[in-house]
Amino acid sequence: MSSPLYDLHYHRLEKVRWDMADIPFDQIDRDAVSQETLDFVRVNCLMELSSLYATRMFLRDFRDNPDFCQFQSIWYFEEMRHYLVLREYLKVFGLEPDFTTLDQYDTELSPAPWPNTLAMHWCGELRLGRWYLNWARAADEPVLELIFRRIAEDEFRHAQCYEDFMHQALETDPTLLSAFANTAKWMLVNPQGDKHPTTYREGSDDGQAVIDHIGGYQAFLHRVQQMVPVDDELSLEKRVLKTLSRLAGEELASRSDLVRLTLRLNQETEKSQAS
Ligand SMILES: [Fe+2]
Ligand SMILES: [Fe+2]
Repeated sequence: MSSPLYDLHYHRLEKVRWDMADIPFDQIDRDAVSQETLDFVRVNCLMELSSLYATRMFLRDFRDNPDFCQFQSIWYFEEMRHYLVLREYLKVFGLEPDFTTLDQYDTELSPAPWPNTLAMHWCGELRLGRWYLNWARAADEPVLELIFRRIAEDEFRHAQCYEDFMHQALETDPTLLSAFANTAKWMLVNPQGDKHPTTYREGSDDGQAVIDHIGGYQAFLHRVQQMVPVDDELSLEKRVLKTLSRLAGEELASRSDLVRLTLRLNQETEKSQAS
């Protein structure tokens, strides 16, 4: 039996974790921040809050995997801190979201098969890490740049944790590769669509996404699309294919190879269900 990943990730992440005290909020160059940037940070802050709804979903849908549920204590802490660090930044300008009205963003994510959720979050963290790095490079204000960099590093580490949980799951049940590969393919196709793991509309019980309630989301999305270069999606695809090649034990050099793999795995699943 493999060793628990919670133990491993707890120690690994504790060693590299940044501290809120490392962020020099008193050195923010207020003149270097536009209203457009503050609007962007505000939407970003409220989107990070969606880890609250995702954590409820994780603990419900992964209840048969206590190791993963234990790891959620780390993920939830770090994601909620993304919300808080952005909130602290907004506070300097008196623009933080009113905490007494946060219930308007609450959503209930529908129950979903856990292997697909796991792969979706793995790809989502890899994409978000790239987004944050771009936002850091584009930031005109140094403290905001630092915050975006710290969050980017967290998101990449989260992706590695999810990848480790996928690897561990495959050791027990190799047929899970089909769900992982199909979900990764879905995440790579049409990246401009609503593919944010904690806010996508189809995942909610009532068809309402968190983003439907966040004023200024469309302007946020427009700016993301302007700031994130096409190369980023290519780099994401390369990274996803590299990991899936390792998990599948075969070389996946292109998205076509991934599509072929999913078709083959889907056929194998159908055959085994028919027999
Ligand atoms: Fe985050
Ligand atoms: Fe994350």
